Amino acid sequence: MPVIQPDLLAARFPSTFRFGVASASYQIEGAATEDGRGVSIWDTFSRTPGKVIGGDTGDTACDHYHRYPQDFALMKKLGYDNYRLSFAWPRFYPDGKGKLNQKGVDFYDRLIDELLGQGINPLVTLYHWDLPQALEDEGGWKNRDTAYRFEAYAAEVFRRFGDRVQSFITHNEPWCASVLGYLFGVHAPGLQDMETALVASHHILLSHGLAVNEYRAQGHTGQIGITLNLNPVYAATDDTLDQAAATRQDVFSNRWFLDPVLKGEYPKEMEQWLGSLPAAMRAEDLPIIAAKTDFLGINFYSYAVVKHDQEDKLLQLQNVTPQDHVTDMGWPIKASTLRDLLNRLKRDYGDIPLYVTENGAAYPDVVEDGRIHDTERTAYVSEHIEACADAIADGVDLRGYFLWTFMDNFEWAFGYSKRFGIVYTDYDTQERIPKDTALWYADVLKSFRTRA
Ligand code: FCB
Repeated sequence: MPVIQPDLLAARFPSTFRFGVASASYQIEGAATEDGRGVSIWDTFSRTPGKVIGGDTGDTACDHYHRYPQDFALMKKLGYDNYRLSFAWPRFYPDGKGKLNQKGVDFYDRLIDELLGQGINPLVTLYHWDLPQALEDEGGWKNRDTAYRFEAYAAEVFRRFGDRVQSFITHNEPWCASVLGYLFGVHAPGLQDMETALVASHHILLSHGLAVNEYRAQGHTGQIGITLNLNPVYAATDDTLDQAAATRQDVFSNRWFLDPVLKGEYPKEMEQWLGSLPAAMRAEDLPIIAAKTDFLGINFYSYAVVKHDQEDKLLQLQNVTPQDHVTDMGWPIKASTLRDLLNRLKRDYGDIPLYVTENGAAYPDVVEDGRIHDTERTAYVSEHIEACADAIADGVDLRGYFLWTFMDNFEWAFGYSKRFGIVYTDYDTQERIPKDTALWYADVLKSFRTRA
């Protein structure tokens, strides 16, 4: 599919739409021990041999902690005026609770003021996976108390930043935090136990609801929501067994989180599949988990096609998604599935305002004469923004699109081996070089701001 002209693309969005870029604290900040920051589970995990490709850690990352003024100046120059970032809990509370670390607060004070000074609108995520290690030592998200510690941290952030920050996201991708972290063990804290993952997911969702209620109780007038990673699922054939397999995968990847947050219930299929839910997933928490939010954030990267497979232990299915068109992560590309997903959310969960809070692609970029011709990434982003326009034309209340990510950074278990940025990071010199996609996106935003 050819890349659509920036002005034609921009013309398809309402003037209130928010285009932006996204990032997360551990992936860009570095300064892991500076100004009293506590240890997070990602410090521990990445320092454990064999967990992250190349033994990479976020110790220095993009050194954004020291370079944020220049980074925001570049954002401004490119015309990106909405920025999704996350706060690091261990900078506020090095041990996850107890005494507030004033220097951590001061850092984000300066950072938010700098952003606002550049005319960039911040959207702050409270938890993008950097749990204070001290809390993990007490059971992490398996421990119900962690939900209340999160509530206290959120309350402090709202008190100090609720005037300047108009949009908050409680959690980023609780599926990844619980399933990748506690069931598959490929993310921090690296455990592999189904019951633990279930309980962790419940406590994360509980903490989300507690934070939403706290935000309302403080009387703020901005918006608060949660971001889920969603992966539309298709059955390989019309066969009832394959259809049932697709339902199981959908429950596992999507409805496990969508249903409690938006309907106040866990999918019945979960009990059928697991026997029963652990007692720690208390039913009386569900009304808190379903606290009314102002929007739902969606992180979208790929889709899945599945068929029934009796041999498979977890869900009795096999992933048969076509592999002929994939990114450097091996993630299959089909932009129309994003349009399907957005329509499905409206159909099944009502007309809640939606934001795409992450979407983007990794490719093995090369610098040639100071330029990065990342044509595949531009195509990926262009097609997905078009899919958003299509969904809006279908009647979906989509309010914004945040590209993942501003600059190349620490890609979790893949370390620095995968580049998702639209700005190239030279990790030796910390030089930033806008890739062709960054320039194309700048044109889209310029057309968007100046269109008739
Ligand atoms: C998402 C994460 C984000 C980034 C992208 C590629 O799952 O939220 O931090 O790593 O994937």
